Amino acid sequence: MVNILVVYYSLGGNTKTAAEAIAEGCREKGAEVVMKTGIEANQDDLLKCDGIAIGTPDYFSYMAGGLKDFFDRTFYPTQGSVTGKPYVAFVTHGGGGKAIASVESICSSFKFKKVADPLLIKNRPSKNDIIKLKELGHALVVSIKK
Ligand SMILES: Cc1cc2nc3c(=O)[nH]c(=O)nc-3n(C[C@H](O)[C@H](O)[C@H](O)COP(=O)(O)O)c2cc1C
Repeated sequence: MVNILVVYYSLGGNTKTAAEAIAEGCREKGAEVVMKTGIEANQDDLLKCDGIAIGTPDYFSYMAGGLKDFFDRTFYPTQGSVTGKPYVAFVTHGGGGKAIASVESICSSFKFKKVADPLLIKNRPSKNDIIKLKELGHALVVSIKK
């Protein structure tokens, strides 16, 4: 069984909708999914999972503080134990989307392995975005099963 952690943050619900879609995509490929906000998730969630899907709104061209909190708390306790962990990322934004750079920079510090290009979604995910998010979930699980 592949275990996926979907960690995200969302004040307005757009990124939560996206996170639910990616979680559904992971389940469609047979994965067990733990879905938590960056405030709720902890180092054990990160250590236990086989892969991680990371979602954030773009707030001031950076990831949400509620997701950054997760990375701040888990960095030292997991250092050396999460090298090469597969990840995918998704951002919802209002027309910018620069926050993806902050996510990719932190993932590089953790030494996670990017297994697919990130998805940038303008505001609330459309039906087409939901399809792409599910496909991103598929790609994450399939990369682990290989
Ligand atoms: C405090 C705040 C700052 C924002 N800053 C940006 C920004 O710099 N660039 C951008 O494209 N959108 C920005 N937005 C728009 C949000 O990224 C966008 O509406 C997003 O989908 C909200 O996600 P959520 O509903 O999950 O909170 C900002 C929204 C808020 C509330």
